Amino acid sequence: MRASSFHVSARVMRPATQPTLAFDPHAKTAMDKQEPPAPGADFRVVIVGAGNINFGSDEGPWNHTFRLEHKLGPRLKVVALIDPSAERAKRVLRMKCQSFVLSAYKDTIVYPSFKDYMNSVTPETYPHAVWVGSPPAYRGGTEPGRNLEMLLTDGLPRVPLFIEKPVSTGPVDQAFQVSEMLKQNGSLVSVGYMLRYLKVVQKMKQILTENNLKVMAINARYIMAYEHTAKLDWWDKSKNPGPIVEQATHFCDLARYFGGEVDLSTVMAHSLEYFEPAGQLSKIPVDESLIEPENRIPRITCATWKFQSGAVGSLTHAVALQGTNYSTEIDVFADGYSLRLIDPYNAPMLYIRRPGDDHEEVLRYNDDDPFFSEVSNLIDCIEHGEGTSPILSSYEDAAKTYALTWAIREASERTVRKP
Ligand SMILES: NC(=O)c1ccc[n+]([C@@H]2O[C@H](COP(=O)([O-])OP(=O)(O)OC[C@H]3O[C@@H](n4cnc5c(N)ncnc54)[C@H](O)[C@@H]3O)[C@@H](O)[C@H]2O)c1
Repeated sequence: MRASSFHVSARVMRPATQPTLAFDPHAKTAMDKQEPPAPGADFRVVIVGAGNINFGSDEGPWNHTFRLEHKLGPRLKVVALIDPSAERAKRVLRMKCQSFVLSAYKDTIVYPSFKDYMNSVTPETYPHAVWVGSPPAYRGGTEPGRNLEMLLTDGLPRVPLFIEKPVSTGPVDQAFQVSEMLKQNGSLVSVGYMLRYLKVVQKMKQILTENNLKVMAINARYIMAYEHTAKLDWWDKSKNPGPIVEQATHFCDLARYFGGEVDLSTVMAHSLEYFEPAGQLSKIPVDESLIEPENRIPRITCATWKFQSGAVGSLTHAVALQGTNYSTEIDVFADGYSLRLIDPYNAPMLYIRRPGDDHEEVLRYNDDDPFFSEVSNLIDCIEHGEGTSPILSSYEDAAKTYALTWAIREASERTVRKP
C-alpha cells in the first residue's frame, strides 16, 4: 500500500514565517532546565543525513538528535535514517545504541535513499516528522537528485518537515518553485535559521516592534577563523556554494529578519580573491592547488544593498582569522537607537543605546539554546497545533534569504579583477 493512501487531511494555506509570540526573557530554553519529557505515545521521526548537524561533532553545538531525545524522551522512535553512506549511518547508530537512548534507535533502519525508505513504509512506521540534514546540493530543486521536498510531499503528504539551511545550492527560481509546492501541499516546514530563536534576537525584535521603529541601517560582520576548516570541498566553489551562500547566510537571514525585504536589484559587492596581493593566507589547512583556480573562494566579500523600506544593508564576510573563534556582529540602527548584537554563536550579548542616553545597556541571557528552541517549537506545533510555539523561519522566508546570498555572490563575481 502507498503510504499516502492512509494519510488524509485537509490542505491548509499557511502564512510565511509566523509572527513572534510575546517575548519571554525568562523562558527556559536550555535542555537542562526543561521538565523531564512526559510519557506518552511514540513519536516517529525519519532522519535524512547522518552527519554533523543531526548527530554532532567537535565543530559546534549543533546536534539535532540530541535535542530531539531531550524533547521527547523515551517517546522518540527514529524509524529510519536515510544516508547513502551506510557506514557513517551505522556508526552513529552504534553509538546511540550503546547509550541510554537505545530505545529510540534500536529499531532504526538505514536506507540509502528516500525512495528505498518509501518502498518499505507501513502505517506502523509512518512518521510524525522528517528531519532533513543532508547536504543542500541534494535538495531544494525540481530536478531528479535535487528534488527531495517533492518526493517527501508525494510520499508523505503533509508530514511536517524540518529542513536545514541553506535550502539549496541550485538555481534560485527552483527554490521558489519548491517553496510554492510546499505551500500548496499545506506542509508545516521549519528551516534551521536557529539564530532567529536567540533571546537576544527576540529582544531586538521586541524593541523594534514596541517602539514602532523604522530600521535605517544594518551592518553585519562575519569574520571566520579558517585555520581548522579542513574539508577541501569547503574551499571549492564548484563543490560548495561558497562562504556567502553557505555561511554568511545566517547573517543575511538576520538582516532580512530585522530590516525586511531586500531590493535584490540594488545589491553591489566586491571581493578580495586568492590571487591578489592582499588575498594570501598563510594557514590554509588543505592543499588549495588541488582546486581549479576559478573555483577558489574569495577571502573577503563586502556587499551593500537597499531594503525595500529604503534602509541600507551591508555585509562583510572574511576568511581571515586563525585559531578557532569567529568574530561576528550585527548592528541595527534606527532613529535614536543602536542595537548591537555581538557573538551570537558563542556568547550572545546585546548592546542597546536608546534615545536620550549616550550609554549602552548590555543584555545577556544565560543558558539560551536556540538549537533546542527550534526543535522544541516544531514538536510543540506538531503535537499541540500550529501557533503553540512560533516557527521563525518558513521555507518561503528561507528561500528569500537564499536569493539574497546568491545576489551577493553574483554581484561580487561581476566585479572580480582578472588575475
Ligand atoms: N544551522 C547550523 O548552524 C548548521 C551547522 C552545521 C551544518 N548545517 C547544515 O546542515 C547540512 C548538513 O551539514 P553537515 O555538517 O551535517 O554535513 P556532513 O557532511 O557532516 O553530513 C552530511 C551527511 O549527509 C549524507 N548525505 C549525502 N547525500 C545525501 C542524500 N542525498 N540523502 C541523505 N543523506 C545524504 C552524507 O553521507 C553525510 O553523512 C548543511 O546544509 C549545513 O549547512 C547547519
